[in-house]
Amino acid sequence: MASELDELQELIIADARKIYSETTIDHAMNPRNVGDMEDADVFARVTGPCGDTMEIWLKLKNGTIANATFMTDGCGTSIASGSIVTELAKGKSVNKARRISQQDVLSALGGLPEESEHCALLAANTLRAVTKDCLAMKREP
Ligand code: FES
Repeated sequence: MASELDELQELIIADARKIYSETTIDHAMNPRNVGDMEDADVFARVTGPCGDTMEIWLKLKNGTIANATFMTDGCGTSIASGSIVTELAKGKSVNKARRISQQDVLSALGGLPEESEHCALLAANTLRAVTKDCLAMKREP
């Protein structure tokens, strides 16, 4: 039974390789930084044009993103996009992270099919929303 499941998984991955990059498949199947963050400094939730939602939590240290996590109820491509956008954000200053764009997410994933590009936009928009909250926090007395 186990070998039949392994074979089936190989077939599914072989099909996915015709459409998605190795990086996208890797981040969709083994997403980094998944889950909420209890001690987060900021949090944002954004709903994309498809109706799916992404949430990002950030932990800050001296204006730098010390940790970033995400959750999504979206597709496999949105999981890959959330995974890579949090990887891109970690270690960057808030100002640099807020400039991470849909194109940056797409480039880091090695591209996505046109019909999935909005999943990368959802990830970039959620990061932008959460970094906006960081800047608002700084202005508070
Ligand atoms: Fe909705 Fe990918 S995020 S289809």
